[in-house]
Amino acid sequence: MDATEEIKQKVDLVEYVGRFVALQKAGRNFRGLCPFHTEKTPSFYVFPDRGSWRCFGSCGEGGDLFSFVQKRENLDFRGALRELATEAGVQLSAESSQRRSRLEKLSAVLSAAVDYYQRRFEGEEGRDARAYIFEKRGITLDAAAAFHIGWAPDDWRALRNHLNARGYDDADIVAAGLLVENESGGQPYDRFRGRVIIPIADERGQFVGMGGRGLHGEEPKYLNSPQSELFDKGRTLYGLHLAAAAIRESGTVVVVEGYMDVIGPWQAGFKNVVATMGTSLTEHHAALLRRFAKRVVLAMDPDAAGMNAAERAGGLFLGLDSPEHAARSARQADDMASTHQLELRVAPLPPGRDPDEIARDDPEGWARAIDQAVPYAEFLLRRLMGPQPPDSPVEARRIVDRIRPVLLAVQDPVERAMYVQRVARHLGIVEAAVFERLRAGGGGRRAVRPPDQEAPPEEEYLLSFLLRYPELRLQFKSIPETLFTRAVDREVFRRWAGGEGFEDLPTDDPLARHVKALGARRLPPLTPAEAVLAVREKIGRITRDRLIQHQAAMSEHLAEAEKSVGATRLATLAAEAWRGVLPAPEDRPFAETVIEDLELGLSIHRREEPGATV
Ligand code: UTP
Ligand code: MN
Repeated sequence: MDATEEIKQKVDLVEYVGRFVALQKAGRNFRGLCPFHTEKTPSFYVFPDRGSWRCFGSCGEGGDLFSFVQKRENLDFRGALRELATEAGVQLSAESSQRRSRLEKLSAVLSAAVDYYQRRFEGEEGRDARAYIFEKRGITLDAAAAFHIGWAPDDWRALRNHLNARGYDDADIVAAGLLVENESGGQPYDRFRGRVIIPIADERGQFVGMGGRGLHGEEPKYLNSPQSELFDKGRTLYGLHLAAAAIRESGTVVVVEGYMDVIGPWQAGFKNVVATMGTSLTEHHAALLRRFAKRVVLAMDPDAAGMNAAERAGGLFLGLDSPEHAARSARQADDMASTHQLELRVAPLPPGRDPDEIARDDPEGWARAIDQAVPYAEFLLRRLMGPQPPDSPVEARRIVDRIRPVLLAVQDPVERAMYVQRVARHLGIVEAAVFERLRAGGGGRRAVRPPDQEAPPEEEYLLSFLLRYPELRLQFKSIPETLFTRAVDREVFRRWAGGEGFEDLPTDDPLARHVKALGARRLPPLTPAEAVLAVREKIGRITRDRLIQHQAAMSEHLAEAEKSVGATRLATLAAEAWRGVLPAPEDRPFAETVIEDLELGLSIHRREEPGATV
């Protein structure tokens, strides 16, 4: 039995979820207020028979024990696995537990260092740093404490001596990125000297690295922890831990580039802000953010020269200096948005000022800019079209040709049509003309034929299909990951959709074993076209099953209500609710449930439909 199965047997889903959600019995299932969005009537269900949970309300989330832990604690699959293994007393493979204790050790070194730097900041020798932070930068005491701001004394061995005295080895302090190995064979020395320390934590609040700002125009302005086992700039978002709650609550995360651009807005009450630390937004960032909110608003300067080409290459390229760059940028953004089902927007911040200042000097302006953020493609189009309508047909054609690649990068036909409409209006020409110009490159339609495959369990069957036919990726990478109930399946799907392989996993890793098992399934030999149909078929089945599951849960719930209120009374209330009659105060809580059930039924149909017709 593999570790995930063993854990599921040992940890009771209802009991576990019940620690965080007040659950009431509803037939064979349990019902409560969804912990992942705010609601008044419970639409969150736990299905003990299936070992799954699902919210039929507006967040539409669902999954198994692992995904519940992932979502609740901001963990990735591996993190949830570790957490639950501890809970269940299940031994994970030796390799991963070794790695875990190594990471825990490095993390402890970092915590000790953060602590030390914070105390230096508060102490006598932190005077200049405090003057800089509090007076010059206007940071509040609260913010400095919340972000653990510190001071690294201008000394070669201050931290090293402190940590050595507390039993930490040089080797570990070096591995944590805090000491620099001495090239000429001498003792290692402190990396951060005479700098204000800005600790960097991961989404759980564990320290992974830090940035150090010089006070006197030193180069570099910010010295950062080096890439290490613990710290990877391309996978870390500064401030995420402190922002998580506000991001979930608002459904929006604002992405900026700088440390200070997180702290400034935070002080001004805008707590849903994270920073990429000067680099562009990577696939990994997008995947991470997806766990918190769907709507990502970039509040970065799109005209900035950028840190360096290598860093940019790893992520979203905001280049606008040429049509080719804009097109590439649009493709990347569209890809990222569809792979991770994100809504990627750009906020029109006034140029020349950092988010840090804007949020504090002009909070309304900040709120407005975030609110009025435009979809990524639209942002590019506006820039390429320019503010004025063209003054000649030749100019109009030039503009259409320039924006053509951007329009083509938008995969969704509805979305694209909307942009075409705007473009046509701006240029003062008919839409058909723009469409015609777009079609110049061609692009075929896909035939739809009802398939005739059959084999449960559908979700894993679907997944093995996808794994078997990697060429399906382009077409199916953006199906909702909530299609998969088991977190382990979801993780496999996510990696598949993101084009990440599974080769880097140790062979005894639970994920690797699962992939192997999926790969070993016997599947009918299909042509690529047949595989597409088979996959669509499976998606349809899973979606149908969801609807049936929802209906069953509802009817059990209504049956219970019938017992307590009586069928006639229930019918009357429902009919009145439908006609819009306000229920009497004593009937209200119950009537609300009835209304919500009606609405939920409709909304789930609407929501699940796209999956069925992929
Ligand atoms: P900025 O230079 O815009 O930083 O670089 P900032 O946060 O506005 O800095 P202040 O306001 O002058 O203090 C944006 C981000 O790029 C990274 C940092 O994460 C910084 O916050 N960066 C910048 C570095 O890592 N090293 C550098 O030398 C410069
Ligand atoms: Mn700044």
